[in-house]
Amino acid sequence: MQIVIDNLSLNYGDNSVFSGLSLDIVDGESLVLLGPSGCGKTSTMRCIAGLEEPSTGSITIGDRTVFSATDGINISPHRRNVGMVFQSYAVWPHKTVFENVAYSLRRQRVGGGQIRERVGRVLELVGLAEMADRGASLLSGGQMQRVALARSLVMQPSVLLLDEPLSNLDARLRERLRLELRELQLSLGLTSVYVTHDQVEAFALADRIALMQDGKILQLASPEEIYAHPATTSLASFLGVGNIFGCTVDRGGAHVADSDLIVELPASAKALSGATSVCMRPEDLTVAPLADGLHGSNTWAGHILVSSFQGASIRYRVALDAGPTLDAVAARRSGPTLRTGERVTVTCPVEAAQVLLDDGGPAPTATDLVTTGVAA
Ligand SMILES: Nc1ncnc2c1ncn2[C@@H]1O[C@H](COP(=O)(O)OP(=O)(O)OP(=O)(O)O)[C@@H](O)[C@H]1O
Ligand SMILES: [Mg+2]
Repeated sequence: MQIVIDNLSLNYGDNSVFSGLSLDIVDGESLVLLGPSGCGKTSTMRCIAGLEEPSTGSITIGDRTVFSATDGINISPHRRNVGMVFQSYAVWPHKTVFENVAYSLRRQRVGGGQIRERVGRVLELVGLAEMADRGASLLSGGQMQRVALARSLVMQPSVLLLDEPLSNLDARLRERLRLELRELQLSLGLTSVYVTHDQVEAFALADRIALMQDGKILQLASPEEIYAHPATTSLASFLGVGNIFGCTVDRGGAHVADSDLIVELPASAKALSGATSVCMRPEDLTVAPLADGLHGSNTWAGHILVSSFQGASIRYRVALDAGPTLDAVAARRSGPTLRTGERVTVTCPVEAAQVLLDDGGPAPTATDLVTTGVAA
């Protein structure tokens, strides 16, 4: 079910959460709203669900207008056919798993046979069929989370809204449930909007990510595109992209501020006027013993400050003689582990050096965002 949010404004008293927010969510897509705390993610979801009344704009779900400020339309939440799973999952502890999931169906006076069938089917789907008769207070956090999910799914929503549904879980369980959720979303073809401030989660779950800051969507693109081409410096650092340095750019390359480091850039980057940062991703850098020689573009001498074993890879922090400190990630099998203090070279392929625009730059238009990711 397609969702179209057009020119939405929401205020809490004098506090404007967003104004003129627009967002198209494609039928069957998993859209992730990603952004720092307080940027308006939950508020956006609550508007879609019908729990807040915006002051301007409209929301359509499928071909039905569920909210329109100008036409005075505001369909109540339970008539929007939207399922919601929130961070604080309210599971009734004194009811069984089955009864938790059956609750809304009973309220709708659905027949007993149908309830058994529908609840049975979703419990199967979320992997809780064996626990149907267990008291909900005897469940683990992850199982409770799945009860909450099952409770939404049993209503056969056309749209599923998930607001940080995994944030209370430990890292491993989160990873597993995240994959399960993605599988479920794909197999049911559900349009879903997923809110998180965890970029790893966003990358894993999204067809597209809407990056939100201060009530505005600054970039809307696939995870690959967002990771490869964050629109601005602050989005890049929010995404956890490493090795970002302030710089000035000219035909010679990026001159890193307060240092002697000059980074040679691909031709396309040199043309990007207004660029104020250069970024070199840790996974694109190669670290080698200095004894192997110092040659080629973007190869700099330095010494290892920290060498940290991470299982499949090794993370190095290298202090360059030219000033800056670079992080680099090397595959474990790519060579001998280099030791702290060892003299090394770091190489950044020219095409891997990227320049980023300052946030103060010209605001990207919606079409720029969708098609390119990098705002010109
Ligand atoms: N009921 C409310 N009354 C007044 N202000 C509110 C209310 N709910 C949210 N806000 C404010 O609106 C802004 C957006 O809040 P929202 O809950 O949408 O943020 P969020 O992106 O979901 O953040 P988080 O990641 O912390 O959950 C914040 O500045 C918040 O303080
Ligand atoms: Mg929130």
